[in-house]
Amino acid sequence: MNPAGVECDENRRGRQPVSYLIMESLYIAFAPLQGYTDCVYRKAHCEVAGGVDEYYTPFVRLEGEGVRKKDMRDIDFRCNAGVPTVPQVIARDREEFARLCDAVQAEGWNRIDLNMGCPFPMQVKAGRGSGLLQQEAHIREIAEEMQWRNDVVFSVKMRIGQESAEEGMYLLPIVNEMPLQHVVLHPRLGKQQYKGIPDKEAFGRFFEGCRHPMVYNGDVVSSEQIGAIVEAFPGLKGVMVGRGLLARPWLFTDKDPMAVLRGMHERVYQYACETLQGDSQILARLHAFWEYQNTLLDKKQYKAIMKSGSLRRYDEAVLGFRGGRL
Ligand SMILES: Cc1cc2nc3c(=O)[nH]c(=O)nc-3n(C[C@H](O)[C@H](O)[C@H](O)COP(=O)(O)O)c2cc1C
Repeated sequence: MNPAGVECDENRRGRQPVSYLIMESLYIAFAPLQGYTDCVYRKAHCEVAGGVDEYYTPFVRLEGEGVRKKDMRDIDFRCNAGVPTVPQVIARDREEFARLCDAVQAEGWNRIDLNMGCPFPMQVKAGRGSGLLQQEAHIREIAEEMQWRNDVVFSVKMRIGQESAEEGMYLLPIVNEMPLQHVVLHPRLGKQQYKGIPDKEAFGRFFEGCRHPMVYNGDVVSSEQIGAIVEAFPGLKGVMVGRGLLARPWLFTDKDPMAVLRGMHERVYQYACETLQGDSQILARLHAFWEYQNTLLDKKQYKAIMKSGSLRRYDEAVLGFRGGRL
């Protein structure tokens, strides 16, 4: 379902002066969130809530001699069937990038996103994620590799810089030469991690000079905000939403929030019980489901779920929720 319908209805109720046509064509992406948006979560969201055009996977990384097995399981082509998925990779140079692309393509994908925004110190120090933004030569070589792989549709997800927003502007000519479907820009610096307010002015400067369609990412939690962003950046391709969708998976659908939550929980619960071993692993996955998701639960209920130390306790806590099992 196109998310536009929801925006349009809200618009008619007189909220944001957003044109129906702009919203109709707006691209909506679910941001990758390591530890939260795994393939079962993405599938559950797609089947139950919908309203999202593409789901980005948490980054696939190299480990030892090969590609991390857990990451490969997450992009298993069959497991992701029916879900518009974009596998994401994180690499420090052309060689790593090529190895990761080989693995992702061998799994059957012809769409790959490159992570140039992860701010985790371990990745940054190794020159990956937002650390790559300071490695002009590596980025040029990766751009060449992209040109060479002309059977793959690429995008990049980046920050405005690691230490300063000038870094992103400096790289803009190289990014412009990359064969990209679009650029997702999260206007924070890598060194800020997730602190501070997204720098819309820096986004605007990059947007002005970028030859590719652009997608805005960062702290978007409501359709009103999306309306304001679309107005501020005419011609914007779309928005990518992460934590806002974890908190409100129903954001882009007119379905009943509680029904969305129940349906998604049911699927994630079943998957966790079938595939994970022992209470602690299962509970960790279920707690992650709820971590950002506290908008519909009352405080007592939420606390009971998050504090449950056994599956029995968890079931009890969930059972008590508004008189019925979620
Ligand atoms: C726990 C966590 C894990 C994340 N994992 C990834 C990742 O694997 N790849 C990536 O590109 N971004 C990752 N991000 C960044 C998000 O995709 C997104 O850019 C960021 O949260 C800002 O968007 P939001 O405010 O809509 O959440 C992660 C963020 C968080 C909080």
